[in-house]
Amino acid sequence: MDKFENKVAIITGAASGIGYAITEQFIKEGGTVIGADINEASLQNLKEIFGDSFIGVKADVTKEEDHIKIVKMATEKFSKLDYALNVAGGSKPGTIIDQPEEDWRFTIDLVLNSVFLGIKHQGQQMKKQHNGVIINISSLNAHVPMYAGGAYASGKAAVEMLTKNAALELARYNIRVNAILPGLVDTPLTRKFNSKPEIKDAFMERIPMNRPASPEEIAAPSLFLLTEDASYINGTSLVVDGGWEITGYPDLSRFRK
Ligand SMILES: NC(=O)c1ccc[n+]([C@@H]2O[C@H](COP(=O)([O-])OP(=O)(O)OC[C@H]3O[C@@H](n4cnc5c(N)ncnc54)[C@H](O)[C@@H]3O)[C@@H](O)[C@H]2O)c1
Repeated sequence: MDKFENKVAIITGAASGIGYAITEQFIKEGGTVIGADINEASLQNLKEIFGDSFIGVKADVTKEEDHIKIVKMATEKFSKLDYALNVAGGSKPGTIIDQPEEDWRFTIDLVLNSVFLGIKHQGQQMKKQHNGVIINISSLNAHVPMYAGGAYASGKAAVEMLTKNAALELARYNIRVNAILPGLVDTPLTRKFNSKPEIKDAFMERIPMNRPASPEEIAAPSLFLLTEDASYINGTSLVVDGGWEITGYPDLSRFRK
């Protein structure tokens, strides 16, 4: 039951959606979470729910000094950092020819640069320990483009490659780095368009399992990658999309009797 007893994880974006589900599951299995998020009110709420197993840090993942602060919190309190999950993300959508440069930069900063800064400082600490696992939440959009999502999809594709590069550089310090590429997940991020039936139907045409994932269905494989059961999995991308990526072909089933 207590797979993560005495283990400490940094989880960015812990206050909502996938980050929240990972936090909840990790604590349920005995671990302690340093949850970093810009949403201070929600962090306070998590503190009330999880008590001593949760330490909330108000932090902006696009800022290097905040990553330094988060890692310092782990080392000062626990003298180690076992795991880091870089989950925080979001975007300002727009088609390429219309997108203001600042919106492009905002998205790349939040999706990609934040993960670089995270790995940099988490990796420095894990190198000292000669031990650690890092998980980066990319997206199916690393493989599949999205209309008006050029910045987001490009950033997520780069997170996938950054993960591989980090795995290559950090394996010598006994640190594994992997990426999860979720398809559609039912979180506050997607609920605003997912709640419109015509948009939901358009997604369902693509997803053989005919439903979005729950955040828990992304948390479970993320936590698996932390464990010793995944001790030889390194620099890989785990697509968790209900089969969405395999649907690039027309649905021929309707033409067969
Ligand atoms: N929901 C999906 O369908 C889906 C699919 C693929 C990938 N993802 C990725 O999963 C991750 C989590 O998404 P979610 O759906 O749980 O979203 P969410 O909006 O529910 O949660 C994102 C969290 O990140 C925090 N955050 C935003 N900007 C931040 C910043 N600058 N610094 C610190 N925290 C910040 C938010 O406050 C929020 O708590 C993101 O990286 C997202 O791109 C989501």
